Amino acid sequence: MIKGEPKMVVLTKKTLRDIDVSGKRVIVRVDFNVPLDKDRNVVDDTRLKGAIPTVRYLLEQEAHPILMSHLGRPKGQVVESLRMAPVGKRFEELISYPMLTLKQCIGLQVKEAIEQNPDKIILIENLRFHPGERENLPDFAKMLAELGEVYVNDAFGTSHRAHASTVGITAYLPSVMGFLMEKELLTLGSLLEEPERPFVVVLGGNKVSDKLGVIDSFIEVADVVLTGGGMCFTLLESMGLETGNSIVEEDQIQPISATLKKARKKGVRIMVPSDLVVADRFDKNANHKVVAAENIPPDWMGLDIGPVTIEKYCSIIKEAKTVFWNGPMGVFEWPAFANGTKRIAECIAEAPGLTVVGGGDSDAAIKQYRLEDKIDFISTGGGAAMRLLEGKKLPAVEALDEK
Ligand code: 3PG
Repeated sequence: MIKGEPKMVVLTKKTLRDIDVSGKRVIVRVDFNVPLDKDRNVVDDTRLKGAIPTVRYLLEQEAHPILMSHLGRPKGQVVESLRMAPVGKRFEELISYPMLTLKQCIGLQVKEAIEQNPDKIILIENLRFHPGERENLPDFAKMLAELGEVYVNDAFGTSHRAHASTVGITAYLPSVMGFLMEKELLTLGSLLEEPERPFVVVLGGNKVSDKLGVIDSFIEVADVVLTGGGMCFTLLESMGLETGNSIVEEDQIQPISATLKKARKKGVRIMVPSDLVVADRFDKNANHKVVAAENIPPDWMGLDIGPVTIEKYCSIIKEAKTVFWNGPMGVFEWPAFANGTKRIAECIAEAPGLTVVGGGDSDAAIKQYRLEDKIDFISTGGGAAMRLLEGKKLPAVEALDEK
C-alpha cells in the first residue's frame, strides 16, 4: 500500500536497465546476510525477497544469474554453521526457480558448475570464508570477476563496506546497480532532498553516538526530530535534567548540546520525552511506574517513553507528509516497556504521508506488530542506511559505472 511517493532523486550511476545482459553470465552481489534460527532456518527473509525483482529480470532477459553474498562474520575461514545452503534453499522457495548452491565461491569447480548448470540460478559459498573478501584483495576480486561477464550490485545492506565483492570486482567488469539498490538510494535519498513537509524524523535506540551524524544531517531538512529510547537520556542530561541510572553517554553531552543549539538556530524542533516509564532495575520483571521526565528517581532508569509523550508524538506524526523512523522507543522486547515502540509504530503505520523505516530494531518492531504492509518503505540496510542518511558516500555505490 503506497500512501506517498518519494520525490525524484537523480542517480548518476548505471542501473541494470542501462546495459544489455541478454544471454550473459551476470554476477549479482546480494545481501543475504539474514538471521538463522538454531535449526538454520531463515528467520527473516526480507532481504531475500528484496533481491527477487533483479533476479527475475535477469531470468526474463535469459541471462544466467550467479548470486554471491556474505553471511555473518566468519573471519576469513570456513565456519560450517555459516554456509549459504539454507539461504539458497529459502531463496529457491521464494523465487520458484531451480537453484544450485555451491560449497565454494572461487576456482575451477565453481566455473565448471556454472557452465554445466545454465538453467539454474547459482549461489556461490559465503564470501567471507576467504580473507580476501574483507581485505578487498585484488586477486580474490579478480577470481570472482572471472565467474561472469557483467557485475550487478544489489546488496544495499553491504554498500558501506569496501570489500572485494562490493568494490574490488568493479575493476574487472562492467558494473551496475540492481533494482533493490536503486530503490533504496532513491527512497532514502529523497529524504535528504526536498522531502514533503512537514518532515518528521523519529529516532530511538540506545546510543546517541550512533545517531549524532544523522541528527546533524536531518536538521538541515527536517521540521521536527522526536527522540526516545536510551539515546534520549543523554539529551535530557545535556538539558540539565537528572536521569538517575538511565543509560547516558557522558562524552556525547557536549556534541549533542552543540547539535541542539544548531537545530534551534535553524528552527528545527528536537523533542525529548516529557514523561517516561522508569524501572528500579534493568529486568523485564522490574518494578516500574510512569514519571515526568524531570522526576526520574535517583536509583531508577528510564526504559520506555510515557503515555503523554506517546500522544504528543503521535499527534505530530499524524500531521506529517514525510516520516522517517529509526530505533525503538524503549526496551520493546519486554512487554512492560514495549508500549512506546508499539504505539509509535502504529501511528507511523497510520500516517497519511510517505513513511520510511530504516534499519536495525525498528524494522524488527514493525514486523513484530505486523505492520509491514502499512509502511511505504522498509530499508534492508541498517549501517548502510545510516551512513547514506549522514550524507556520506557509500563505497560500493561510488565504485559502479557512471551513466
Ligand atoms: C548488515 O547486516 O548490516 C550487512 O549485511 C553488513 O554486515 P556486516 O556489518 O557484518 O559487514
